[in-house]
Amino acid sequence: MAKKLFFTAAALLVVSGLVFGQGDESGLSKQSVFETPVPEPVGDERGDPGEEPLLPRPYATSPPLVPHAIVDMLPITRSENLCLDCHLLKEKEEGEPTPVPESHYVDLRNAPDKAGDTIAGARYNCVFCHVAPTRTELLVANDFARPLAADSTTDTEGGDPP
Ligand code: HEC
Ligand code: HEC
Repeated sequence: MAKKLFFTAAALLVVSGLVFGQGDESGLSKQSVFETPVPEPVGDERGDPGEEPLLPRPYATSPPLVPHAIVDMLPITRSENLCLDCHLLKEKEEGEPTPVPESHYVDLRNAPDKAGDTIAGARYNCVFCHVAPTRTELLVANDFARPLAADSTTDTEGGDPP
């Protein structure tokens, strides 16, 4: 069944490509969809944890950006989550990692009114929401304007997410 669906979807894609005249290029990729893209590394990571200042949040309520390198901490697996090794703290201490906030202990789907004892499953894969910017130019231009003051890391007033 799944196989049949897959082939139907694949056939539809090919047909729509022909109908709309896109040839074998599609989406944001600059090359044929039949090639395996090997992108250049996008840029240098930031420094080790604690070496560089926190980054301003892109918009109110956004997950804070990771201000340090993370490549050596990945992948996050069921048995290993290096992010939690450092961030699973109860209280903020000067110069130490920011503790995972209370919201991350709440299982919004099954028990939205109480904080559990452990990180909620939906929050376990930290890099699902927290991204670590590298030093690079934008790959694709956009006109998103950050609604917060430039020096704000915690301001929760301001605009809506893009
Ligand atoms: C070796 C310890 C260590 C590890 C491992 C680590 N961090 Fe950090 N992290 C820090 C330190 C130190 C800071 C900067 C101080 C702070 O949090 O206020 C920081 C800052 C952050 C911040 C910014 C918080 C804010 O309020 O702006 C985020 C988000 C973050 N880390 C996410 C992650 C994620 C996601 C991972 C796993 C991929 C991770 N960290 C792994 C130590 C660590
Ligand atoms: C589903 C998205 C999502 C996931 C997954 C997630 N976070 Fe967050 N995180 C957020 C959002 C949104 C905020 C800001 C609002 C808040 O505090 O709840 C935040 C805030 C934070 C902060 C800043 C807290 C503060 O007091 O300023 C830290 C540190 C953090 N997260 C660490 C983590 C770590 C470590 C993981 C993985 C175990 C993780 N987060 C997983 C969305 C997420």
